[in-house]
Amino acid sequence: MKKTTIALFTMFLAVLVLAGCSSNKNSSSNSKTLKAGDLSSTSYKKSTSYYRGGTTYKGKSISLNFDKAKYTTRTITSGNKKIKYRAYENIVYVSKPVDKKYETMNIYIPEAYFKNKKLNGYTKNSAPVFLPNSIGGYMPGEATTVGKTSSSSSAAPVAGAPGAGGAGVSATGGAPSGQNSAPEKALKEGYIVAAPGARGRTTKTNGKYTGKAPAAIVDLKAAVRYLKLNSKKIPGNQNKIISDGTSAGGAMSALLGASGNNKDYAPYLKAIGAADTSDDIFASMDFCPIMNLENADPAYEWEFNGINSYQGMAMPGTTATTSTQTSAQKKYSNALKKQFPDYVNGLKLKDDNGNTLKMNADGTGSFNNLIKKTVMNSAQTAIDKGKNITEKKYPWLTIKNKKVTDVNLAKYYKAVGRMKTAPAFYGVDLSNAENQEMGTATVNKKHFTKYSQDNNTAKNKTAIADKSIIALMNPMDYVGENNADTASHWYIRYGEEDANTSIAIPTIFAQKLKNENKDVNYHLEWAKGHAGDYNLNEMFKWMNKISRA
Ligand code: DHB
Repeated sequence: MKKTTIALFTMFLAVLVLAGCSSNKNSSSNSKTLKAGDLSSTSYKKSTSYYRGGTTYKGKSISLNFDKAKYTTRTITSGNKKIKYRAYENIVYVSKPVDKKYETMNIYIPEAYFKNKKLNGYTKNSAPVFLPNSIGGYMPGEATTVGKTSSSSSAAPVAGAPGAGGAGVSATGGAPSGQNSAPEKALKEGYIVAAPGARGRTTKTNGKYTGKAPAAIVDLKAAVRYLKLNSKKIPGNQNKIISDGTSAGGAMSALLGASGNNKDYAPYLKAIGAADTSDDIFASMDFCPIMNLENADPAYEWEFNGINSYQGMAMPGTTATTSTQTSAQKKYSNALKKQFPDYVNGLKLKDDNGNTLKMNADGTGSFNNLIKKTVMNSAQTAIDKGKNITEKKYPWLTIKNKKVTDVNLAKYYKAVGRMKTAPAFYGVDLSNAENQEMGTATVNKKHFTKYSQDNNTAKNKTAIADKSIIALMNPMDYVGENNADTASHWYIRYGEEDANTSIAIPTIFAQKLKNENKDVNYHLEWAKGHAGDYNLNEMFKWMNKISRA
């Protein structure tokens, strides 16, 4: 059931009031891409402790050489075949880690490649590298393991209760565990699995916050760099890295794909002792990405304004209750909704025929055709797969002879339902996960838009987050900028029943990538809520296709 899934999964609704807009302009538009050797150049010598959340590294510099001999052998079954693989675990991927619990990677390699054998047509030189991150709720994520515990972990434990306390809850959706998990499937399909952990919004070291933005993306980039540095030692093709993540992890996967080699990350990478190589990747798979945070609230209110009842927070084992937005929240919603047209029009997005997608001041306009098309495609695909979809069941669809001919978006949004109160991300009272993500070494929670700061209701009003840091977290800022080596291939999914962010957010991102001539496979997954790795067979078919092209 969608509501239950969404509610359980988002313990989150600690969300509150207001929101703002923000300048989205890239602080990095003047910078160039990084090349090997750049990190050791004098301009980045200054690895201040600031970049490490106020800590300095006191230990011995950790070797970034992959030790081929340090592994255990495990087996998984695929049908009646047994697949042996080597497990290299707890590899610290930076030489000056801030937190070894998270800055580690588990690498799994099919045994076949050490015997010069083929698997699924791949060789030790051609096998792609599957890189599932374990970030959820902008929380820290430990590296995913395969085969160690009885119920092996999933690719993307979507999770984390983005709420203020940050206690993680396990995914109700997400990648299926055990035999069907994405990392296991990857091994069976002949992929190298490289699963990095990453710091997050609650990470603390010696009383300092050490995982605030941009730590999560810096860690993922450092993991990619480790793989590239060791490309001759680790079987597989490190030029074919395919990243996978869900929700906040989807946002970070998108950012990893968008911002390859951008120089703005260099001081942060340098400060943790990341390998002096490149960090661009081949492909990015992003499920329900909670991204573009500084524009996510106007989008949310453009979609859900006027829908004031919402599903309350469900703690595990309890049923969600329904509440109504307060008058203050309604006011925030009205104000935020008005900010969206300027943002959309500023993007100058084109539809697939090259026409500019526009939004009128009241939220109508040709941009809506893109959303309509997305929803109609979702329903049509489901019908074509034999799902029983009728107008009676889905009164917001018009269906003629098994063809979806129209969608009433207002009714569709109502059916999806509001999940968060306005502002859904900015948190005028600083109570949102996103406020905590945008904190600093010494300030736990920050506003990151002028709107939320102007409407602050928190006791301690803090300075707004640094503009350059906000930009470092937004994949939108790097697509179409010549200062980034953006991935060529994109697989983006959002749940048709998901209300964790507006449908506009992933749709805009996918369209922007298309406009930049990227290979984009974007789909709204019918009857799915907030989860990841929806359809492993389809996903691997796509991965195999792009990898073999
Ligand atoms: C996640 C979900 C949210 O609704 C959000 O605002 C941030 C993160 C998540 O599940 O990762």
